[in-house]
Amino acid sequence: MPAVARHKIPFCFRNPANLRLSLGMFKNTLLKALDAAGAKIRSFDETEFKISSKEGINNLVTEVDHAAEDVIIATIKEAFPGHQILSEECGELVQDSQYKWIIDPIDGTVNFANRIPICCVSIGLEQNGKMILGGVFNPYLNELFIAERGQGATLNNKKIAVSEKKAVESACLVTGFPYTYLDEPNGPLEVFDRFIRRGVPVRRLGSAAIDLAWVACGRFDGFFEHKLQAWDSAAGFLLVEEAGGKVTHYNGEPYSPYVHSIVASNGTIHEELLQWVKGNIPQQS
Ligand code: IPD
Ligand code: CA
Ligand code: CA
Repeated sequence: MPAVARHKIPFCFRNPANLRLSLGMFKNTLLKALDAAGAKIRSFDETEFKISSKEGINNLVTEVDHAAEDVIIATIKEAFPGHQILSEECGELVQDSQYKWIIDPIDGTVNFANRIPICCVSIGLEQNGKMILGGVFNPYLNELFIAERGQGATLNNKKIAVSEKKAVESACLVTGFPYTYLDEPNGPLEVFDRFIRRGVPVRRLGSAAIDLAWVACGRFDGFFEHKLQAWDSAAGFLLVEEAGGKVTHYNGEPYSPYVHSIVASNGTIHEELLQWVKGNIPQQS
């Protein structure tokens, strides 16, 4: 994994009386957790693993999701035993703390279960309800995305920025679909159909955290999805914002990972993308 091994945990980490815990210390723990989870996931490369089903159709969880989650939580608890945790497979640890780690041990589990190397570990850290740090690590492509509030975003330690595309019709987009189809007006397929009929490419990678990371580094110009959970987007939305992009809900309101819909973009096409998602598409020229 790029550069992660170099980060050592400072001794003052372990002293709960130390009130000068800096973002750098949180970042060390984030890197350590991403590294450990990535290594755990890769340790199952040549092995069979148990796959079971959750709610919905083909909503899978594997023993590797649980194993990766265990190492992430152990890493966080060792450094910050008082912090809150929200993690996809094991739920919420509520404590009296302003800090909450939001974890998706494998985002893109269906890909992972089929040995498709588009999946990642996603971890965000909130302070008083505001995301301050996020990391997305794809252990197959060896791509590590990190965002720090106010400090920008990086891919393997190099600054990244969103694309400069100016219009939806020339954009390359990405989306995702919920495990249980939302049969509602302006549902996921209706919105998808709108772009495809006009020849706008819309990819479907199967990992919302990677979708967002790839908007952040300019591979995609925009991303939309009807129904995400906090762990899918916690780290990725900060990546997009810190790379100079914009993230809102379908109604244009400022993004919260606790509200389902998401539109993320390079910022320039955001208003236009929102209109397309709502169904107000421009006349064909
Ligand atoms: C899923 C992925 C997918 C998105 C789904 C998520 P999981 O997460 O992010 O891209 O479309 O809504 O549930 O189940 O692989 O962690
Ligand atoms: Ca997920
Ligand atoms: Ca997951």
